[in-house]
Amino acid sequence: KVLILDFGSQYTQLIARRLREKNIYCEIHPFNTSIENIKEFNPKGIILSGGPASVYEEGAPKVSKEIFELGVPVLGICYGMQLITHLFGGKVVRAEKHEYGRAELQVLDSSDLFKGLPEKFVVWMSHADRVLEVPEGFEPIAKTENAPFAAVRHKEKPIYGVQFHPEVKHSQFGDKVLENFAKVICGCEPLWTMENFIEYEVEKIRETVGDKNVICALSGGVDSSVVAALLHRAIGDQLYPIFVDTGLLRKGERESVERTFKEKFNMKNFRVVDASDLFLERLKGVVDPEKKRKIIGHTFIEVFEKAAKEIPNAEFLAQGTLYPDVIESVSVKGPSATIKSHHNVGGLPEKLNFKLIEPLRELFKDEVRELGRQLGLPEEIIKRQPFPGPGLAIRIIGEVKSEYLRILRDADAIVLEEIKKAGLYDKIWQSFAVFLPIQTVGVMGDERTYDYVIAIRAVESVDGMTADWVKLPYELLERISNRIINEVEGVNRVVYDITSKPPGTIEWE
Ligand code: XMP
Repeated sequence: KVLILDFGSQYTQLIARRLREKNIYCEIHPFNTSIENIKEFNPKGIILSGGPASVYEEGAPKVSKEIFELGVPVLGICYGMQLITHLFGGKVVRAEKHEYGRAELQVLDSSDLFKGLPEKFVVWMSHADRVLEVPEGFEPIAKTENAPFAAVRHKEKPIYGVQFHPEVKHSQFGDKVLENFAKVICGCEPLWTMENFIEYEVEKIRETVGDKNVICALSGGVDSSVVAALLHRAIGDQLYPIFVDTGLLRKGERESVERTFKEKFNMKNFRVVDASDLFLERLKGVVDPEKKRKIIGHTFIEVFEKAAKEIPNAEFLAQGTLYPDVIESVSVKGPSATIKSHHNVGGLPEKLNFKLIEPLRELFKDEVRELGRQLGLPEEIIKRQPFPGPGLAIRIIGEVKSEYLRILRDADAIVLEEIKKAGLYDKIWQSFAVFLPIQTVGVMGDERTYDYVIAIRAVESVDGMTADWVKLPYELLERISNRIINEVEGVNRVVYDITSKPPGTIEWE
């Protein structure tokens, strides 16, 4: 396994992604991880990530020089390479011109890091500092027009540095460079596969759980579904999945989750708690989005806790925490303002007094999907677009009422159905309807109407942090609009949201 020390680059997670794609296990830890912990981790190789700092500045993040004496190969990327240069007595200076974008790399030595690669290929550069002089004992193994030391190597020790970013997709063969480091230089074996993962986790879960029972909150989203499927594979009916019907779900959602887990997976102890009246009651008269989120969050916990107490011999709670939530990234940004509290329903508090089982802690989202496939979950769940914990409550502007829910549910079902029919569902991050409690005048037949407005929202995004509105075909928008107005009673106007994020957010509340 490979250890990645994080110096705060926005690309650090990509290094791990690329290695895992090559079936090599790796973990990201903060740059200041102690040397004892590093020894205990026992890596076969260490990668120093990029980062926004300048090595020659006071307070710049560093590593102990001891890591070069562990006899383990080290690769520095961008800042990591500058740090190696600095620690070994070379010279790093601010570049006259920031180098940003593509550059042609010319390989000077292809015996290890660049093994099997062409003599010239395009790499992605992004740096403000550059190596002016390499330290004694180092030699260049690749260059670009602007950077004579685009890649360097120690003449005797397995210490390497690259100025470019092999982890980004814009770097041709970048993944091969990382793979070469892991396999050729560190001698790692490509053992990280989903089959191995399942086998290992199943064994571990059985050992941890013994003859006790495990509960989990199953929402039908990708993460909680994969957790449930994995646990069920490991401990069968010792698993008690609890599905809370908040009354804020989409059309047919509860039935579809029941079908999948109760019938297809034969989870005998799957139970549905219908708390829709309670949620609606508590949301009565509440208009403020953050208040709605808090009420829903608290109520969910309360309902879940009550259901959990009724389960005999339950000692564990399984949760779908993913790797990106776990990584203690060295954020160099200041505390950012809370835009939305994003209370994640399913993220339960510690006071529940259960021991946690988090089998996805080491996985990225696409690995979770792959795992789900191997466990036999339907594509419909694996490729499901994200759906917020507070559900339709934050897609009804202002107060939530059962009439509004009925209208939104029907309109939303039409949006999804048409998007799927057009073959666009998988290409879109999220697509849904929003209910606006304003009435406008219309005419249907010879009658004047005075009904509500539905907004359609469809966005493209990689991670939900930023998003662009999707240029849906006019014919599709037309069909959706016609169908909603004709089929959903109470709506006489449909509008399309053409706001990206920023400045908008994906959800309207
Ligand atoms: P925004 O609206 O902030 O949404 O652009 C970004 C992503 O987060 C989802 N979202 C939520 N998820 N609880 C959740 O579990 C919430 O309160 C919440 N609010 C927004 C949203 O659907 C999008 O994917």
